[in-house]
Amino acid sequence: MNAENEKWIAAVASADYVKNGMLVGLGSGSTAAFMIAELGKRVAGGLIMKGIPSSDATAKLAKQAGISLISLDDAGTMDINIDGADEFDPKFQLIKGGGGALLREKILAHNSRFNIIIADSGKKVDRLGKFKLPVETIPFATEIIISELHNMDLKPQLRMKNNEVYKTDENNCIIDVDIFQKDDLQELNNLLIQIPGVVETGFFLTSTDIILMGQGNKVVTFKK
Ligand code: A5P
Repeated sequence: MNAENEKWIAAVASADYVKNGMLVGLGSGSTAAFMIAELGKRVAGGLIMKGIPSSDATAKLAKQAGISLISLDDAGTMDINIDGADEFDPKFQLIKGGGGALLREKILAHNSRFNIIIADSGKKVDRLGKFKLPVETIPFATEIIISELHNMDLKPQLRMKNNEVYKTDENNCIIDVDIFQKDDLQELNNLLIQIPGVVETGFFLTSTDIILMGQGNKVVTFKK
């Protein structure tokens, strides 16, 4: 079975966790897009819920799907947050931010009572780091941070799009770094976050409660 089908069946399974009256964090990316489409169908069928989007792209998709949106301020704590991942390991640690939405995604994960990750089987790894870790930085400090990350042996690469520096929804830059040789991810995250001008990293090391992974025609559930 292909990755798209695995994403879709995981996304449909995640929609079963959404009950009437819930406030739901809506992740970003192609797997989350399947989840938004499925929730849209269920809303059309009578499900009552409100969504809090993790990106401008997700807000647009959710509106098109007929899902009512509210701001994070109005929502406060969410009942549930459903999002994709670029990689996850057996300890429920993730790399996210391939689509550049890591900052708002992490804010939603932090402010949700229950976090569900939906993924195709290609996202499961024994060790994080084949996927480069996105580090979000403010434009003013980005070049100097790249030098510092070079010195930390992280092989930094400034993310580009159409020959221009990529900008996030918050108008920040992304530096993708190579963390594959690093063993203590929490320590590395602490070091990165302490650099002035680093806004956030794509490490989601402790927030995930459950992972729904499409594998062939079945959904495998990993519980913490
Ligand atoms: C968006 O910034 C990311 O964190 C996505 O959740 C992640 O890249 C997974 O995307 P796909 O579902 O498209 O693989």
